[in-house]
Amino acid sequence: MEKHAFALILFLAIGLVTRSTAQITNLGVIPVNLLFSETLGVTQIDCYIQNTIYGQGEDSYEIADSSITTQSLSRFGYLAMIDDVVTEGPDPTSNVIGRAQGLFGSADVNTPGFFLDFNIYFTSGSYNGSTLHISGRDSPSMCNRELSVTGGTQEFRLAMGFVTVSTISGNSSSATDTFQFNIRVFQPILS
Ligand SMILES: *[C@@H]1O[C@H](CO)[C@@H](O)[C@H](O)[C@H]1NC(C)=O
Ligand SMILES: *[C@@H]1O[C@H](CO)[C@@H](O)[C@H](O)[C@H]1NC(C)=O
Repeated sequence: MEKHAFALILFLAIGLVTRSTAQITNLGVIPVNLLFSETLGVTQIDCYIQNTIYGQGEDSYEIADSSITTQSLSRFGYLAMIDDVVTEGPDPTSNVIGRAQGLFGSADVNTPGFFLDFNIYFTSGSYNGSTLHISGRDSPSMCNRELSVTGGTQEFRLAMGFVTVSTISGNSSSATDTFQFNIRVFQPILS
């Protein structure tokens, strides 16, 4: 009886395996406390995002509007792709450390509120080639704005953290808005 049950389970398991064409390899287990213990490394990155919306160096382009974007006070449904320069200092001409590449959209029907989902792609220094994935809601009218660090690659594998955002410049006669990003990244130190 038990033998039959075992054979049936084995048969079903083989059936499941052979139906799948993906290569799935179980790489073993790691203790959960490795992720939530004193083995977290902390990195602080203070940088500036330069968003140029028209003219020379334009790096933010509209992709789409919704059917109500033009009538909406919050421009709801507006969607753009950005490839902003990331600099060391607030001055747009200061050292470039990477790019902020991804989506920016108006996601609040009632009041200005934006959805952001992008990668900071580092192009210099010890993080050259690594990315940090950043996502969240940005409300320009709030004093304390915060985004999430939801992941990363290479030097930032398994990253998590948060970003505090402030607008440090941006006026109607300038095509570039500068945002200060204070990023805190937490990562398990894997041996
Ligand atoms: C960053 O990495 C790329 C690709 O490996 C390389 O071509 C480039 O010279 C590096 N840049 C810096 C500033 O190290
Ligand atoms: C607005 O931006 C322009 C162009 O960068 C700059 O010359 C001007 O001083 C800025 N005005 C304010 C009030 O910040």
